[in-house]
Amino acid sequence: MIDLRSDTVTQPTDAMRAAMANAVVGDDQYGEDPSVRELEALGARLLGKEAAVFVASGTMGNLAALLAWCGRGDEIIMGDECHIFWYESGGAAALGGMPFALLPNTRTGEIDLDRVRKMIRQKNRPGYPRTGVICIENTHNRCGGVPLRQEYLTQLAALAREHDVPVHMDGARIFNAAAALDLPAEEIARNADSVQFCLTKCLAAPVGSLIAGSADFVQRARAGRKILGGAMRQAGVIAAAGIVALQTMIDRLPEDHRRARRLAEGLAQIDGITIDLDVVQSNIVIFKVEPAIDQAEFVAAMKARGVLVSNYGTRGARMVTHYGISDDDIATALEVARTVMSAPVAA
Ligand SMILES: Cc1ncc(COP(=O)(O)O)c(C=O)c1O
Repeated sequence: MIDLRSDTVTQPTDAMRAAMANAVVGDDQYGEDPSVRELEALGARLLGKEAAVFVASGTMGNLAALLAWCGRGDEIIMGDECHIFWYESGGAAALGGMPFALLPNTRTGEIDLDRVRKMIRQKNRPGYPRTGVICIENTHNRCGGVPLRQEYLTQLAALAREHDVPVHMDGARIFNAAAALDLPAEEIARNADSVQFCLTKCLAAPVGSLIAGSADFVQRARAGRKILGGAMRQAGVIAAAGIVALQTMIDRLPEDHRRARRLAEGLAQIDGITIDLDVVQSNIVIFKVEPAIDQAEFVAAMKARGVLVSNYGTRGARMVTHYGISDDDIATALEVARTVMSAPVAA
């Protein structure tokens, strides 16, 4: 099977497995796990932040960050296509009592700054919730893996500062954004007060995310992690793979991007497929096969021929390149897509 459903399907590398087997560990809740401490220090350094904390998943990382910024009733401004809204079980509302103030995402994953300005609540007005935090996603998954423009991020950060509201970046794929824009991740993180990033996406580690920010923020995020049951003990066993991920898997990301681009350009040439090539700048390729072919039928037909694709509902179908995908796999996936699209199963 050629598995293009997600970049989360990767296997740990041999170096990761060896590092896990040999990890030096301790009780992390006592702050005594050297591997966790090393991972947190490395993650903070790569993002140019004072500190970082290791968490079990991106979902836990986003929620612990939001708990660090907001109290019950504080509102979170976010885009209506963001992961936190779609795929995190409404955790911030369910567990943190934080309402979502949704604004439309543009096709390039941004939220219009005038709309953000209007959505930030006037302070101390009876009846108004407090604006707790503004969330952005970079790269933006449902918007086709597009990296947010640096100029946009700078303007958003200035607006947020003007109103004394922090910015949280769901940077699950921040290193993809950095590779796509050919910038250090630190430059991208500079415009956010906190960043969650995943070790398990294109970096191929088996478990975990980091949340980075100021020392004060990270201390509060640690409290959030504990509330969520995410404070662990000898977590160095998994942190060790995360260290290898950060040391060895970042520099190869342009390879994934090159393959995704080739895939997207190949798909664009197939009759019945529509795709916005402008947003294909990282490892995610989202495209539509309808009305030529029913989307679910397309996904099933691809699977029957050995290529796994995600059915992304109203967004379309999704293919994601990663460490386990070769140039030959891309050629095969395109060949199979051509065959499937030539079979008339109308939507
Ligand atoms: C943009 C984004 N944020 C957060 C997450 C959540 O990460 P996890 O699956 O580790 O909870 C994902 C996972 O796919 C994601 O794509």
